[in-house]
Amino acid sequence: MRNFEKWGFNSLAVHGRYHPKCGPVNPPVERSSTYVFKSCEDGAKRFASGNKEGIYSRLFNLNCYELETKIADLEGGYGGIATSSGMAAVEAVYFTFLNPGSHVVATGSIYGPSRSILEKSAFYHKWGVRTTFLDTSDVDEVRKALQTPNTKLLFVETPANPTLSITDIAAVAETAANAHIPLVVDNTFCSPYLQKPLALGADIVVHSMTKCIGGHSNAVGGVIITKTQGDYHLLRDNVINRGAVLSPDNADLFNTGVKTLGLRMERMQENAMALARYLANNADVSWVMYPGLEDHPRYDFVMSGRQMKGPGGMITFGVKGGYESAKRLLNGLNLTTLAVSLGGVESLIQHPASMTHAVVSEDQRIAAGITNDLVRFSAGIEDIEDLVEDFDNAFKKL
Ligand SMILES: Cc1ncc(COP(=O)(O)O)c(C=O)c1O
Repeated sequence: MRNFEKWGFNSLAVHGRYHPKCGPVNPPVERSSTYVFKSCEDGAKRFASGNKEGIYSRLFNLNCYELETKIADLEGGYGGIATSSGMAAVEAVYFTFLNPGSHVVATGSIYGPSRSILEKSAFYHKWGVRTTFLDTSDVDEVRKALQTPNTKLLFVETPANPTLSITDIAAVAETAANAHIPLVVDNTFCSPYLQKPLALGADIVVHSMTKCIGGHSNAVGGVIITKTQGDYHLLRDNVINRGAVLSPDNADLFNTGVKTLGLRMERMQENAMALARYLANNADVSWVMYPGLEDHPRYDFVMSGRQMKGPGGMITFGVKGGYESAKRLLNGLNLTTLAVSLGGVESLIQHPASMTHAVVSEDQRIAAGITNDLVRFSAGIEDIEDLVEDFDNAFKKL
């Protein structure tokens, strides 16, 4: 008898609830869009039962189910809903909780498209949704912004993207609960290995699984984890009916990737810590933002372990000379991969103002702290000596 409730993170990440008594160790990829009914009556019974298993793959697929259950267990939630991308997860949350005329309060430096769909799409133009973007690390400001009667959602990304500003989840959860609105946390940067927002009072967690959970930059997908059964059914129906489900093949890749999540996060964090110290001592670098460095504004909070198990694998830093020097640095790197995304086994580097956050206007970018000299680095699992040598060589070319 498997007692998964008592297992530690890594045991759960490897095994989940999949329990083969014989046959394949990994669930076979179930690549069928539809399922045979034993009889006409059997088909009618399945539709009437409310149990979506064995009908049609958009409604239920074994590989997605294994993944959803595992991630929900890792996050400590009621259930998980796998989606075709991280953006599909974010959009499903907006779509489910917002009405025409709703007001949202959100972290200013959330992922660019998570922000731009609130400012530029039908949410804004057709349904009149309005959003207050602010630095959610300031709980008093959050409290004030939630005073509007139409406020329906508090959406927080922490650490924020790419500023690495840290919001106290427990504090804003209390504020959201007092205002009777759901708190949604984008936990992509940390993964459930480093941070469990539901345990701190959040109602819903979203991830781009494309990042740390998958870990190998080989699949795009997202997941929503809810605390309650009610939210789970609301969001699941929404994702199924709007067709934003994950494919079985990508679910299989994520099921494989997530098994090593704990090991990868530890190694990425170790590399990030060493590289942050190296950058902090580099004459061509004007500033470094890494929650594991003593001068990060929330260093004590992060290192206390109250919210995060560690400072994570993401670093942002400013290159002296602004965009021109940043470009030369990024073009001069060899081992470190010049690409957007994050959380992969390979170290990735990008320039948010001209790449991930180019959709946000310059004024709003600067207000959110995304300056033109800012470079974002996602630590991979390479040998740290090779990463440092790569940066040394690239800095020499500035
Ligand atoms: C924090 C965060 N949330 C959401 C997303 C969107 O995820 P996806 O690219 O899987 O749609 C990203 C993508 O970079 C992200 O960094």
